[in-house]
Amino acid sequence: MVGAGLAIAMAGAVSAAAPTDPVASTIVTNGENPHPVRLLRPPAAPLSAMAQLGRLIFFDPNLSSSGQLSCASCHSPEHAYGPPNDAPVMQGGPRLSRQGVRAVPSLMYLERQSGFSIGPDNAEDESVSLTQRAAIGPQAPRADKTAQDTAQTAANLVPQGGLFWDGRADTLQDQALGPLLNPLEIDGGSVAAVSAKLRHAPYAPGFVQLFGAPVFATPRLAVAEALFAVARYQIEDPSFHPYTSKFDDWLEGKARLSEAEMRGYLLFNDPHKANCGGCHLDQPTRDGLPPLFTDQQFEALGAPRNTALSVNADAGYFDLGICGPYRTDMQEQMQYCGMFLTPTLRNVATRRVFFHNGAFRSLRQVLDFYNFRDVDPGRVYPRAADGAVAKLNDLPPQYRANLDVSDPPFDRKPGDAPAMTSEDEEDLIAFLQTLTDGYEPVAR
Ligand code: HEC
Ligand code: HEC
Repeated sequence: MVGAGLAIAMAGAVSAAAPTDPVASTIVTNGENPHPVRLLRPPAAPLSAMAQLGRLIFFDPNLSSSGQLSCASCHSPEHAYGPPNDAPVMQGGPRLSRQGVRAVPSLMYLERQSGFSIGPDNAEDESVSLTQRAAIGPQAPRADKTAQDTAQTAANLVPQGGLFWDGRADTLQDQALGPLLNPLEIDGGSVAAVSAKLRHAPYAPGFVQLFGAPVFATPRLAVAEALFAVARYQIEDPSFHPYTSKFDDWLEGKARLSEAEMRGYLLFNDPHKANCGGCHLDQPTRDGLPPLFTDQQFEALGAPRNTALSVNADAGYFDLGICGPYRTDMQEQMQYCGMFLTPTLRNVATRRVFFHNGAFRSLRQVLDFYNFRDVDPGRVYPRAADGAVAKLNDLPPQYRANLDVSDPPFDRKPGDAPAMTSEDEEDLIAFLQTLTDGYEPVAR
């Protein structure tokens, strides 16, 4: 590479953390955003009566068979609406003794999630990396996510959007009936049973005021309206999408990143190293909407099997994401088996359990997974009875062709140098910590 700036423009790529790169090293020591933007946040307005009712339902433990479990028990407001503890999955049911099957996702930043679809891979069009902007201004394109050479990607069709780890629900309203009735969760029994509980809830008068007295005559209607109210609460209440992280301030030119945070940020966007930004998009949209840290697409990354899940005691059980078992409309679509939705990384540093099966308990473990899955799998997977490393032990062999082996850092072979050094991993964690909401700038 000659003259870093020009090389960036031509190659669409830069080894950003290299100390010889003048653009990168100036940015690192200075810590400021060379191209501040104005972010468009959702307007703050008082909650509608509907959303206020939704809040009461969200926190109501009486809808559960145990009398102890509300939405907020698993999606804890003090924990970015994610799990309140480090258990890989939460427990539900009448005595809170039934173990769930997947890690509880955060409910934050779902307000812009689109419905599930299979369509062209164009999510990246809007994002431009910092070093590219620093070098050649705001309009530079970023390197495209590499597509695997399969029939669908030849047509460039990829699954995207939806809610849950497998994208099986489309709207916050559709979604909420699941946990409400799920015997492993709130375990509300039937639609009729939940409707009867709503009818006797302290907020029942408000319910009637909003929906009219006949609402309880049709249980399905009462429950549908309750779910609508909960969805309104999540959409309207700013606590679900505040965009108040240090990184948001930095994007607007109101905060400086430390050297470690900045090195982490550059690694995050370096297509030859960590390349996290290839899927966890970290650039504002052209319209100034803050980045969501997800391209809303699905990938099969091959996380190790989590033996702490009781459901995994059955050696024949596999959670295959899009193609089942919890999602049932795509079971024939073998090319999507093992794929899970890319989650947001906002507030991820507040979590103590990561990935769909809760296999990882720290960001360090997550980073080690990205770094060593291919070059040194013995550091990620257990050994089988014969002593061999059980690589991809949670993805049956017939679906391993779906594994992402093209997007860096997953494009490496056994024995190659890992994409990141141990220090790089530390720097990335420092950067991830800037994504936690509620940043209070130090008074200057
Ligand atoms: C026992 C724990 C538990 C309770 C109680 C619970 N959830 Fe969840 N929630 C989960 C788990 C686990 C998932 C992920 C399930 C999956 O992907 O299959 C989830 C997923 C979600 C999602 C999708 C999030 C995303 O990122 O795609 C939403 C929205 C949601 N829950 C809302 C609610 C609401 C509203 C309630 C109350 C009516 C509720 N949950 C009650 C455990 C719970
Ligand atoms: C090819 C797309 C892709 C790339 C590149 C990528 N991720 Fe991910 N990330 C995902 C997907 C998909 C998941 C969920 C996988 C699962 O649950 O099986 C995920 C999950 C995570 C999680 C767990 C979040 C949670 O709530 O449980 C963290 C943390 C994370 N990624 C950080 C990173 C970092 C740091 C990098 C760069 C080293 C990175 N990712 C690169 C797609 C990607």
